[in-house]
Amino acid sequence: MSAHGDPIPMTARAAGPLRGTAIVPGDKSISHRALILGALSVGETHITGLLEGQDVLDTAHAMRAFGAEVTHLAPGEWVVNGVGVGGFAEPADVIDCGNSGTGVRLIMGAMATSPISATFTGDASLRGRPMGRVTDPLALFGAVAHGRAGGRLPMTVVGAAEPGAVRYTVPVPSAQVESAVLLAGLNAPGDTVVIEREATRDHTERMLAGFGATLRIEDTPEGRVITLTGQPELTPQTLAVPRDPSSAAFPVCAALITEGSDVLVPGIGLNPTRAGLFTTLREMGADLVYENEREEGGEPVADLRARFSPNMRGIEVPPERAPSMIDEYPILAVVAAFAQGPTTMRGIKELRVKESDRIAAMADGLRACGATVEDGEDWMIVQGLGAGGLPGGATCATHLDHRIAMSFLCAGLAAQQPVTVDDAGPIATSFPVFEPLMERLGAQLSGPKA
Ligand code: S3P
Repeated sequence: MSAHGDPIPMTARAAGPLRGTAIVPGDKSISHRALILGALSVGETHITGLLEGQDVLDTAHAMRAFGAEVTHLAPGEWVVNGVGVGGFAEPADVIDCGNSGTGVRLIMGAMATSPISATFTGDASLRGRPMGRVTDPLALFGAVAHGRAGGRLPMTVVGAAEPGAVRYTVPVPSAQVESAVLLAGLNAPGDTVVIEREATRDHTERMLAGFGATLRIEDTPEGRVITLTGQPELTPQTLAVPRDPSSAAFPVCAALITEGSDVLVPGIGLNPTRAGLFTTLREMGADLVYENEREEGGEPVADLRARFSPNMRGIEVPPERAPSMIDEYPILAVVAAFAQGPTTMRGIKELRVKESDRIAAMADGLRACGATVEDGEDWMIVQGLGAGGLPGGATCATHLDHRIAMSFLCAGLAAQQPVTVDDAGPIATSFPVFEPLMERLGAQLSGPKA
């Protein structure tokens, strides 16, 4: 369901191989950060390849509300005229971040060390997600948050008028929390130190360095220690956003499980903090090749070529790999159902607090499709049925979660019977062209238009 719309059911059915080239949109994580750091530098940041999904559009809207000028020039091409570190104005209205945990948590960090207040809200999914993980460290800077019970949105954050730098060990593996602390540290005099016990996606660090912040990163026995010197003057940048590996995952995995498929997905960001799914798929025996490996805009990039892989085997996914593929477990669970033998996923508790409880959503939907799935607080085991082995024939609940919707639609392309999702609307948050892109490859998807 879009922010205001009715549910949009959609059905996927087997209709032959997927073939061709899939041009997926820009990286969602990098797109949010490009807009926010553009807003925090003085002058004009020029961005190409920006994801124009609803999550990122909501962040663009928020940056305008804090005083930046954000202009859409052409598809994917945006200019941000920033207000500088410490230059945010107080928004005149509530900031609605829609479905986006990344948007709201990063923006809270970015405003928490300025003497302004802002009230944040979002859709029913976002209003159910915990914000304490961000407001706890922001309180150390002197910011005060008033939200609903359990640290839920709507929430007002009163920024610190005289912030002090902090040293903070992130208690959960979360790039959103680590990034919120770093963004808050920008306007605090002195060195803010963030310690991650497990490394998470490092886009914020890379981009902060690119915008001219002074940043030191050390790998120590304590974990990854990031030291940011506060109150830099950020220099506007020209940024090309790489294509999103988390979106590429869907055409790639759909090709691996659909008989006769051969799909090329060019220009995909393969930052090691994001590429865990592809490593896992190759360990399972997927015919997935990196072609034309190169570097673009400071990020490693390759063209991914995925072919039908009838002999994939289930594996035990190393728990320490979870942060580098945290958004990909739903689609991995689908691939696992088409592999031989069990696939065991452990150390995935964070999936319970994503756009939906993704362990429950995948376990329920796959069982409804005829798979055997066991799950616990922080683990899930999918018993593979082999290529073409998933019966399908079910309607799966999306729970306002784009990745759950896309995962079950991919399952339907290779299952024996069609698979329906109750609501494909949330797909627009991260992958607005999913339906036409998959249809061009040969997928048969039928929404209300059919
Ligand atoms: C993101 C971090 C991850 C991820 C999300 C995007 C980011 O969330 O699930 O989709 O851009 O920083 P957590 O920080 O909660 O792990």
